[in-house]
Amino acid sequence: MQRDKKLFIKTYGCQMNVYDSLRMSEIFAAEGFDITDSAENADMVILNTCHIREKAAEKIYSELGRYKPLKEKKPNLKIGVAGCVAQAEGQEIINRQPLVDLVVGPQAYHQLPKMLEKLDQGERSVELDFEIDDKFLQLKKLETLNLRPSAFLTVQEGCDKFCSFCVVPYTRGSEVSRSPDDLLEEASALVDKGVMEITLLGQNVNAYSSHSNGSEWDLAKLICELAKIEDLKRIRFTTSHPNDMTDSLINLFATEKKLMPYLHLPIQSGSDRILKAMNRRHSVDFYLKIIDRVRSSRPDIAISGDFIVGFPGETEQDFRETVELSKRVGYAQAYSFKYSARPGTPAAEMEAVDESTKSDRLLELQSVLADQQKSFQRKMIGKKYMVLIEKIGKENGQVVGRSPYLQPVFLEASQDTIGKIVPVVIKSYRTNSLEGSLV
Ligand code: SAH
Ligand code: SF4
Ligand code: F3S
Repeated sequence: MQRDKKLFIKTYGCQMNVYDSLRMSEIFAAEGFDITDSAENADMVILNTCHIREKAAEKIYSELGRYKPLKEKKPNLKIGVAGCVAQAEGQEIINRQPLVDLVVGPQAYHQLPKMLEKLDQGERSVELDFEIDDKFLQLKKLETLNLRPSAFLTVQEGCDKFCSFCVVPYTRGSEVSRSPDDLLEEASALVDKGVMEITLLGQNVNAYSSHSNGSEWDLAKLICELAKIEDLKRIRFTTSHPNDMTDSLINLFATEKKLMPYLHLPIQSGSDRILKAMNRRHSVDFYLKIIDRVRSSRPDIAISGDFIVGFPGETEQDFRETVELSKRVGYAQAYSFKYSARPGTPAAEMEAVDESTKSDRLLELQSVLADQQKSFQRKMIGKKYMVLIEKIGKENGQVVGRSPYLQPVFLEASQDTIGKIVPVVIKSYRTNSLEGSLV
């Protein structure tokens, strides 16, 4: 088809959305759209949205409002809302913001060609289907677009855990794993395009499970098979749930050289009482034992996590236990958030902690976590690490890559190093990045 139209796509939320945005651009490419990085040049704008916290969801409506003058200037401009806000609010989005032309949930992207056809006839549509197999089968037929040396690959979607604060089981549906054949094929196609590192994605990636060719596949088996692709050099996975950390996955950190020493394992709170109210179905002790086992398997591993402060009913004592836990683990890096009540989740009915207490606790926890991150980075100074160079940096003559522990590493080197794994000695650090020089 003739490439005469332009698509601008803006992505919010988690890595699953980043992956989905790339796959959506492939669908649009097949419909004659080229990607543009400015909304002003676009014929179609897609916001790929996140519903995880109130602020994330509200941001979408203010963003949509900003397209009003542009749409008045260009009446043929079409605007679509995809992702988790689309799934959660559906038709309501068009009611609240009539400039929206299409609303498509995260499991219904394969419906986009049909929706575009309707739009050509002046008909707006909302698609919120949950037939995830259809989505991946449809995507499989498309040609992979240009990629960086590091790529995402969604292996599992959805969540059956129903933590009492979380919208994901409602916006992404129940857990579905893609078939190993499909994944090995997609991984090989990525590697053929020059990808050297693949991050396997899932809301509960370590719950990956598939029966295929007469055998049972879990995440560990999938990683072992992927590691056999010769030109694939690095494998990562995220996000894991403590209850699905199997022995075989933990052991893999010791035995599989291509598996990078980084584990994102959220706990949310360091208080057993709050974990219970969150419906996490594990204790603090259970989590700490996993961390110990992971560290015996791979002593240098970087542990990352997520925390929520100010969950309904969280007392000062509960919060102190969270700070205590974070100190016991010693995170290389971690995310923390103020609890945000999400409509339709059980926790939204519970009694809230006041806003200023939440803010104080967040500040305190973030300062503890930032200190831990700095001390992890400080220990790297003067040592040599293998860095996968991904792209050019902001400064002249600079490139940026990732350490085995996922930190961005800035260094001076020629552009020829992009797509190579090179030895770098670390010279200095900032909170979220390292600076080094080529050995
Ligand atoms: N499946 C992953 C991550 C899901 S969302 C897991 O189970 O860990 C990413 C993070 O957002 C969560 O780990 C949690 O820390 C945070 N989050 C989810 N719902 C939230 C809410 N209602 N308020 C504040 N933070 C939330
Ligand atoms: Fe949300 Fe809990 Fe599922 Fe993670 S495990 S996606 S926090 S419900
Ligand atoms: Fe947000 Fe949906 Fe991901 S709510 S965090 S975009 S699964």
